[in-house]
Amino acid sequence: MDTQSLERLRRIKDFVQARRAQTEARDRGQYTAFDYDYRWKHTLRVVQYGKRIAEAEHADVEIVMAACLLHDLSKFDSVEYGVEHGRVSARLARPFLETLGYTPEQVDHICFAVAVHVDDKADFEHPVTLETKIVNDADNVDRFGAYRLLIHYRDQVEEYEQLITKAEKRIQTLKRYLTEELGTPTGERLFRRQLDLQINFLERLVEDSKLTVEP
Ligand SMILES: [Fe+2]
Ligand SMILES: [Fe+2]
Repeated sequence: MDTQSLERLRRIKDFVQARRAQTEARDRGQYTAFDYDYRWKHTLRVVQYGKRIAEAEHADVEIVMAACLLHDLSKFDSVEYGVEHGRVSARLARPFLETLGYTPEQVDHICFAVAVHVDDKADFEHPVTLETKIVNDADNVDRFGAYRLLIHYRDQVEEYEQLITKAEKRIQTLKRYLTEELGTPTGERLFRRQLDLQINFLERLVEDSKLTVEP
């Protein structure tokens, strides 16, 4: 990547961080400090997964990394936008992206990938591209990572029976995801790797619970 691209990505990163800092200094809304910290670290991991997938799939690495950095931008507001959060993020990012020297096509491309990452819907017309699919894949890969697994059960670790019941249900859900098609072969491979980890771990947890009996 050339120095101009690296400089643009650095400025986008600063832009997202500034938005987070602004919100945290003013009012966190219904989010906790942990929520913002999680969101930022998730964002950084999605960028790296996006880069890895984009390189393997011969996509435009800068477009992917820029969109990954911005994909959850609106989560750094003190407002819960729900399924709209991709489209809101794209709207918030657009005026800033226009100051970075991108062509109008590049701005549209990044905004589209950001807008559709939640529910495949944007509020403007644009073709679905390889880069769009990669942003989606990268987000999904991190959403099923090892850290997310821990977070999922953090309230149940001291409630053993509840934990096991929740794990049993979760294994079934994760197994259904195994048949899901992702946007790219590389994304799908990374996603399966996450699912395998989670399923193996939870199956072992349930297996061990069967040993929790008196002799
Ligand atoms: Fe998101
Ligand atoms: Fe995300």
